[in-house]
Amino acid sequence: MPKRLLTASNARTAILLAGVALSLSSCGWSLWDSPMTTVRPRSDFGKWIDEIFMLISWTTLVIFIAVEGALLYVCWRFRDRPGAPMPKQIHGHTALEISWTVAFAVVLLIIGIPTIRIIFKTQEAPAATALRVDVSGRQWWWEFTYPEFKVTTANELHLPVGQTVAFHLHAPDVIHSFWFPNLGGKRDVVPQRVNRLILTPLVPGEYLGQCAEYCGMSHANMRMRVVVHPQGEFEQWMKAQQAPPVESADPLAQQGKGIFTQSACVGCHTIMGISAGEVGPNLTHFGSRKSMAANLMANTPDNIAKWIENPDHMKPGARMPNLGMSADQSKALAAYLLSLK
Ligand code: CUA
Repeated sequence: MPKRLLTASNARTAILLAGVALSLSSCGWSLWDSPMTTVRPRSDFGKWIDEIFMLISWTTLVIFIAVEGALLYVCWRFRDRPGAPMPKQIHGHTALEISWTVAFAVVLLIIGIPTIRIIFKTQEAPAATALRVDVSGRQWWWEFTYPEFKVTTANELHLPVGQTVAFHLHAPDVIHSFWFPNLGGKRDVVPQRVNRLILTPLVPGEYLGQCAEYCGMSHANMRMRVVVHPQGEFEQWMKAQQAPPVESADPLAQQGKGIFTQSACVGCHTIMGISAGEVGPNLTHFGSRKSMAANLMANTPDNIAKWIENPDHMKPGARMPNLGMSADQSKALAAYLLSLK
């Protein structure tokens, strides 16, 4: 009988293999190209972790090929044939037992020694010249304070390239986790203690971050963005942050300012020269930020007005109350907030 190449079972296997290959390749694609990838490190910390990741991946790939190759060879070499003699038994072979015990001890050393070295390296005290940034994880947004510059901002972190940063992480409410995958080094943000994370961004650009520890209803909406500035640009940004906001003379913005100063907004938010609330994000230079609501949406008049009208609808569980603003009031407030450059 002629052999049929494409039986139903062969076809099923081929489809299954194609599916696995496709999902592996798309997984590989997203691993490298995702905006929140750990395998394209942009800081010294990220590079160290990546080196260990690559070392372990390549070591285990070589072991996998050697073991699977040996397995296939043995299956073929000692396959059952009519009249074949029983192969030589190696149970209790002392030399073999010793050699594969030693081999795996060597593999553990290859992985263990650099890993322990990096663990200690990433726990070292920061240099005196490091830029200090106090990070406060809140439900569900991030506050960044630069104590040396007396500047506080929210959700959008700015750093100079090539400068070591010492993050001091703390949480006034519940546990969070500070994570910019491109910069490496996820670290827990825990109430009642200050954790430290030290790293040096090496490549200018914008990277996305995310709270990485379940912290309540809008944990997934607790995002952030970091702008790593080229040399010289960071100082400009910092100067602008230290100055009071540049206000617009636009009548709608002025109307919004009136509403802001006469409503509950001032109890929770700081705008330099206007209010000193500390419950919600500092809004002094809100208009200079690209996104709002912890990097959940673009900073547009529409989004801001919708947020003011019903924060809980935009971010479930949001701590900001619905202040009962009318559509016109929200529009004026949005114009005012966006004018704060
Ligand atoms: Cu904060 Cu999850």
